[in-house]
Amino acid sequence: MSTDLTERALSVYAPSAEFAAQANAQASLYQEAEEDRDAFWAKQARRLHWHTPFSEVLDWSEAPVAKWFADGKLNVAYNCVDRHVESGHGDQVAIQWEGEPGDSRALTYSDLLAEVSKAANYLTELGMQPGDRVAIYMPMIPEAIVAMLACARLGLTHSVVFAGFSSSALRSRIDDAAAKLVITTDGQFRRGKPAPLKAAVDDAIGGDTPAPSVEHVLVVRRTGQDTPWQDGRDVWWHETVEQASDQHEAQAFDAEHPLFLLYTSGTTGKPKGIVHTSGGYLTQASYTHDVVFDHKPGKDVYWCTADIGWVTGHSYIVYGPLSNRATQVVYEGTPNSPNEHRHFEVIEKYGVTIYYTAPTLIRTFMKWGREIPDAHNLSTLRLLGTVGEPINPEAWRWYHEVFGHGRCPIVDTWWQTETGAIMISPLPGVTECKPGSAMAPLPGISVQIVDDEARTVERGATEANGYLAVDKPWPSMLRGIWGDMQRFKDTYWSRFAEQGYYFAGDGAKFDEDGAIWVLGRVDDVMNISGHRISTAEVESALVGHEAVAEAAVIGASDETTGQAIVAFVILRQGVENTGDELVADMRAAVAKDIGAIAKPRDIYVVPELPKTRSGKIMRRLLRDVAEGRELGDTSTLVDPAVVESLRQK
Ligand code: WTA
Repeated sequence: MSTDLTERALSVYAPSAEFAAQANAQASLYQEAEEDRDAFWAKQARRLHWHTPFSEVLDWSEAPVAKWFADGKLNVAYNCVDRHVESGHGDQVAIQWEGEPGDSRALTYSDLLAEVSKAANYLTELGMQPGDRVAIYMPMIPEAIVAMLACARLGLTHSVVFAGFSSSALRSRIDDAAAKLVITTDGQFRRGKPAPLKAAVDDAIGGDTPAPSVEHVLVVRRTGQDTPWQDGRDVWWHETVEQASDQHEAQAFDAEHPLFLLYTSGTTGKPKGIVHTSGGYLTQASYTHDVVFDHKPGKDVYWCTADIGWVTGHSYIVYGPLSNRATQVVYEGTPNSPNEHRHFEVIEKYGVTIYYTAPTLIRTFMKWGREIPDAHNLSTLRLLGTVGEPINPEAWRWYHEVFGHGRCPIVDTWWQTETGAIMISPLPGVTECKPGSAMAPLPGISVQIVDDEARTVERGATEANGYLAVDKPWPSMLRGIWGDMQRFKDTYWSRFAEQGYYFAGDGAKFDEDGAIWVLGRVDDVMNISGHRISTAEVESALVGHEAVAEAAVIGASDETTGQAIVAFVILRQGVENTGDELVADMRAAVAKDIGAIAKPRDIYVVPELPKTRSGKIMRRLLRDVAEGRELGDTSTLVDPAVVESLRQK
């Protein structure tokens, strides 16, 4: 009993009185939201400027497609930029940008307004109309954020494609959305070297089968390297946008006007274009950025280390922070260029107060050793956050101690591309934290843990692991999958159709206190360094290689990246196994098809794959093999000897 209590005391971190006294969030928020959810969200929506106020909060009559604040009109970019200038904060730095080679730029809110206005004027000149789609394929430079905001300002729907994705991944996203314009850069810096990017766009949309939808490619000069060029189609940003007028008046759009598409991996090979709209999305991005990060405009220096290619970059670099008038650091490069001190130098240089990153990076810092952070003054930090995957308690404690010197609350935030904004997280200054638990749904959000038979698990019923489900609509929820509403319904709403719950695809459990522990994906989606990649996507890339007859891919646990991609492949008849050379070639095929992040850590060439009598590959066994575990039940296999032969590999 007493050891239990000590363990419990050690594993619970109560908010300090000092932090609580100044916190944006109050415990009463839970009660307020509970009493009247619609009134609660209406109040949150009023943080924004509405050109036409809304009278209706939620319309769920066409479930599962929600409408929030539907009769209201607003301009998302106006809310993120203009109104801060109009309220007298034009001189406040919005973006403190740090380039990879060491160059830097500060953009105030006035600068941002001028840049966004110029871009909006030029995009209008190009003939772009509200509702048109724009693909943005750029590294982390201020123009990427300007491009997103210019789209938002004009009611253009952006589709940001991570600049680490390959040209074929870019092409499929451009085609799916029928994007009219691609915005990119000549190249990007990666670990000190310029690498081409515009060339990848040309590969994607040019050649023998040009992308039919693309009319123009707008190119920002970043590295200065030579780039392929197609006159008439391609235009330089500095010759067009930079020459345009910096005066532009924002028009209001319907709250349900589509703001962006963001493609994410599903259980099949084809990425899904998740659709987000304007008013509800911005409301929740703004609210969560305020209460979860305890953000104080004009005082804090906020840094979210994500890339705009992922949803975290959308909601917590662009829309959340800018709507709340943040001063934020935006960093272009990797954490170890030129060396492992880089992030700590940036924290020190700009006096970062709020730092939001992924567990995989924390584990990488742990590996590099605490003498690196210890060599820097991190005393400005006052709040730390994590996102992307479950954080193991050991990494949580290290983060708390080494980054936060035991003083900073840590917010472990659970959410998804589909949820648009944070859903489950401690409220700093209010919630006790337990290392490894995202704790509780935020005020205004309601979730359930549901068992195999779709029964709701009682809060505090610790024995059962279940599925995480969201039982009530929320403002920033996805409104569909672009061009495939059936898939939207099948993927998220069929599992708990009777209850009408959203199926998140994650396993979860309650502990004895009712805190939520998210356990990771329950489908065939892997989580590699916090990035979602489906097994089917990688399998299809491998099978695309001429030597491969069949492939099975699993996510094996990995100390640093959370999961790592492990592939088992069967070669086509007559193909010679050249060992490392062939494996390297197959990894390259995956990089070409998807991007370097999807390259398998290990590829095993095997004579056979373990299959059940109904022909299903037994991934569980492959995982056992990859992780070096005792094999589970093999009795349903056609040929149990197959596994033994795999093991010998
Ligand atoms: C996982 C990233 C545990 C989860 C914002 C989810 C997490 C997927 C957490 C979404 C967390 C994200 N604890 N797991 N705090 N945050 N996940 O769409 O499996 O890239 O379904 O959105 O990441 O990944 P996505």
